[in-house]
Amino acid sequence: MKEHFLLSSDLIHLNHGSFGACPKTVFNNYHYWQEQLEQSPVDFITNTGLTALGNSKEHLAKYINCDTSDFFFTSNPTTAVNTIMRNLALNEGDEILSTNLEYGALDFTWEFYAKKNNVKYVRQAIDLPLKSKEHFLEMFWKGLTDKTKVIFISQITSATALIFPVKEIVIKAKTLGLITIIDGAHVPGHIPLDIKDLDPDYYTGAVHKWLLSPKGCSFLYVKKEFQKRLDPLIISWGFGRPETAQGSFLDYHEYNGTRDFSAFLTMEVLFQFRKDTKWEEELKVCKQKILNWYPKFCDLVGSEPICPVTEEFLGLMFMVPIKTTDALLLKQTLFKRFKIEIPVTDYLGNFGIRISILPYTSDEDILALYAAIKTLKEEGELIK
Ligand SMILES: Cc1ncc(COP(=O)(O)O)c(C=O)c1O
Repeated sequence: MKEHFLLSSDLIHLNHGSFGACPKTVFNNYHYWQEQLEQSPVDFITNTGLTALGNSKEHLAKYINCDTSDFFFTSNPTTAVNTIMRNLALNEGDEILSTNLEYGALDFTWEFYAKKNNVKYVRQAIDLPLKSKEHFLEMFWKGLTDKTKVIFISQITSATALIFPVKEIVIKAKTLGLITIIDGAHVPGHIPLDIKDLDPDYYTGAVHKWLLSPKGCSFLYVKKEFQKRLDPLIISWGFGRPETAQGSFLDYHEYNGTRDFSAFLTMEVLFQFRKDTKWEEELKVCKQKILNWYPKFCDLVGSEPICPVTEEFLGLMFMVPIKTTDALLLKQTLFKRFKIEIPVTDYLGNFGIRISILPYTSDEDILALYAAIKTLKEEGELIK
């Protein structure tokens, strides 16, 4: 599987979670579209590229199960959440209920919004280790008050790599009349996603992480009843266009000035790659490896898993709590001395290493990390 990717052979890449990795065939397709664009820029940007965009969207829509008319591509989930944030019309004193385990950039996004609008952003404390889904839900809903208007939550967390039970949250939020904004950056291509079934108000997912597209490809799904209320971050030609066959929501959001949207056009080839390599089957093997390795790595450093070691909470990543004297130096040492790319994450004042296992990850890669951590633990300077 490694041969299908552009990843350097000099490096053991155990950090798929941060920015993904793109197969060669998908990357070649990305270049193909860039060439098409450069060969006939005007026709591509105003005509053939748009047809290709529509076709590409069909493939993604099928996979995430929603209508093509209900989502548009964005460069990344931060752009998607900022678009929602700029359109929320909350009143002073209203509350946004979230958790204390959200992705840093989006945590800042809500902090910014809260300060500007005198709204309360509630980072509800989720204590670790999680004991069960019910335990999580009980902790989460403790943050609910009669001022809560919006729920913002990750479906898979960044630093801690946990799957949160968002389905149950969306169901209850609906009965309470709350707006649900789901950060599914890590979800598409990682665990099953069925937007129609989940039925959130807003959902963003990265395509360039676990779905394996080139960088700069994500999406924002918006439930129909919210589409008319959503202005794009960039006002461009779509604003003045009359309703077209496409519908003004998409016109409004899909045209935001001259840009290279080639990454958005790679969906057909991307899903073909996944089919040809039996990728989804391979992921099942990886998920089993995650369950096997998690307790072993924790034993190695004398820590405990932060959740039950089951597929309910774990996908293709796990986070091992570690005691380190210097997180940055630890990451650099693993990279420079052991040639291992792995994030040392921080969460709730603690540190952990987050390991991603994909079909391109060999057992030797995992064993190399295990040996490196064992060595550093025995040396006793960076890992206590
Ligand atoms: C939980 C979560 N949300 C959102 C993002 C998206 O970040 P960005 O917009 O910088 O790609 C990430 C990236 O790793 C993430 O882990």
